[in-house]
Amino acid sequence: MGQDRNGPVIEVDELVREFDGRRVLDGITFRVMPGETFVIMGGSGCGKSTLLRHLIGTERPTSGTVRLFGEDLASLDALGTIALRKRFGMLFQSGALLESLTVAENVALPLEAHTRLAASLIDITVKMKLEQVGLTGHGEKYPAEISGGMRKRVALARALAMDPELIFSDEPTSGLDPVMTAVIDQLTKDLSTKIGATVVVVTHDMESAFRIATRMIMLGTGASQGKIVAEGTPEEIRSNPDPMLQQFIQGLPDGPIPYKLSGDEYSEALFR
Ligand SMILES: Nc1ncnc2c1ncn2[C@@H]1O[C@H](COP(=O)(O)OP(=O)(O)O)[C@@H](O)[C@H]1O
Ligand SMILES: [Mg+2]
Repeated sequence: MGQDRNGPVIEVDELVREFDGRRVLDGITFRVMPGETFVIMGGSGCGKSTLLRHLIGTERPTSGTVRLFGEDLASLDALGTIALRKRFGMLFQSGALLESLTVAENVALPLEAHTRLAASLIDITVKMKLEQVGLTGHGEKYPAEISGGMRKRVALARALAMDPELIFSDEPTSGLDPVMTAVIDQLTKDLSTKIGATVVVVTHDMESAFRIATRMIMLGTGASQGKIVAEGTPEEIRSNPDPMLQQFIQGLPDGPIPYKLSGDEYSEALFR
């Protein structure tokens, strides 16, 4: 056990997850190296969020292994899980801010839960984190009083509170306009270039994916449900001739990606 500093931060081997006998993740194997911005992409329902929940250990595989920092998640006891949990930050798809707490109080939560820092030091840390995401002066506001883009940045500040070596982010730009998407993408890139963190981002937004990724995997749908259909740098993915991949990255309506509805069912649904 133990970690080789230059070794992979995340090792996933032959990960399978079934729900009621339905295979949602099917033999996933990949490595994430230190300092990478690793992007998991794929259409909706392909299993991205499910995969992420296995990476942070909130769900257990049907079979296969997940190692973070060299440690097999399945072998950790409660204390080991808590120790590991302090080493990574997580941004949930919804932002998951507590509405009854101010922005500053939301960012302070992990520091209060995991450290013995004095209140004055927590205040300073929170101010630094808010500055890092461009929210200086907004600490006293409540989540309901700020925009969607700002909520995402508060969630990012909270994920950064513990100075994690590893940060997970689920659909950080969903529901944002193009300008705010570019802002969040820049902040995401800063995590690896300025802080040296390893970053794993789940997204179905192709533009974002190509903007931030150092390496990416794409999960399949239909017959390829839950399998990695492509893996590589943005350049390698762009030049991959696979028709399904090209349909997805170019956002084309016609191609091998199966629809849930047949053509007839689709027009029926449209004109009902
Ligand atoms: N706890 C669960 N029980 C049953 N089915 C689940 C559960 N979690 C996810 N799924 C199913 O797994 C599939 C992948 O879901 P998800 O990982 O949320 O996809 P994505 O994030 O790529 O949109 C979906 O069909 C979803 O209904
Ligand atoms: Mg999802």
